[in-house]
Amino acid sequence: MVGTKRYKAVVALPLAEHLLAQMAECDLVVLPGGRADGALFDKAMADAEGLLVSSNVTIDREVMASAPRLRVISTMSVGVDHIDLAAAHERHITVTITPVLSDAVADLAMALMTMLSRRIPEGMRAVASGRWNETSLGGDLAEKHLLIVGFGRIGQALATRALSARMRVRYVDSRRDVSPVPGVERADGLAEGLPSVDFVSLHVDLNANTRHLMGKEEFALMKPGAFLINTSRGGVVDQAALAWAIAQEEIAGAGLDVLEDEPPRSDEPLLVAPNVIIVPHIGSATTETRAAMAQCAVENLLLGLRNDRTPFAVTPAGAQ
Ligand code: DGY
Repeated sequence: MVGTKRYKAVVALPLAEHLLAQMAECDLVVLPGGRADGALFDKAMADAEGLLVSSNVTIDREVMASAPRLRVISTMSVGVDHIDLAAAHERHITVTITPVLSDAVADLAMALMTMLSRRIPEGMRAVASGRWNETSLGGDLAEKHLLIVGFGRIGQALATRALSARMRVRYVDSRRDVSPVPGVERADGLAEGLPSVDFVSLHVDLNANTRHLMGKEEFALMKPGAFLINTSRGGVVDQAALAWAIAQEEIAGAGLDVLEDEPPRSDEPLLVAPNVIIVPHIGSATTETRAAMAQCAVENLLLGLRNDRTPFAVTPAGAQ
């Protein structure tokens, strides 16, 4: 194929053979360990035009500086807090995401709410330890108040599920132009929304404005019976304040898919806190969703390298 343009790209995540084959127009260096591959990664980045990564590989200003030809970073995630978007913007590097995980994450948020309200972990522990006739009652989801913080794709997918469970749903979002969902009302910020809720579920990006969005003051506003659900990023919650609020019974508990440190330190208080369910960042971890994300990430990389329009490009102003 004389004259066909070829691109140099680094694949810094494990990728199925059929997806690598779709990138036949690229000279690929496949380093599934990402930056942990050390000198090999640095060497490959020195002339890479494209980079395929996942959310556990930090791509900071330093990495970009060591990659003078880099034009496209395609991340197989919807979160972009592992990438210095400002540095990418300055360098005119296109950053793309894979927003094809909304159903999977919304399912998990719903599952965490259900598990907490129906006391499922307690029931499982009782059966495992030989007790069957547990009489402790849970609560219905129907008629309970849910506040969705961040009303992008995932927040909206959760809203439709919660409405079909006959929950009362409101949202807060700093953007004025979010798409309305019939039956879901806007709240005027956390201070107005939090006092009446039974569940609050977080669906915002992690950035300077959202770090520790939920902290001591916010938990103090919530009802003692309320639960926090976080499937976004650990840093959106002040974890020490959350552990304290649960210990003081300011709120009832939490369902967490994400933590400030992943994996957590062994002395993390939330690991042993009552009414806390922690799962290991599995929001998008279904076979179907991960396959769709990988396909989307490959397509984004190729579109970017060819200088074609990349529908899932993000800017420093906001990823979702
Ligand atoms: C995402 O896509 O951001 C998920 O949280 C996986 O990192």
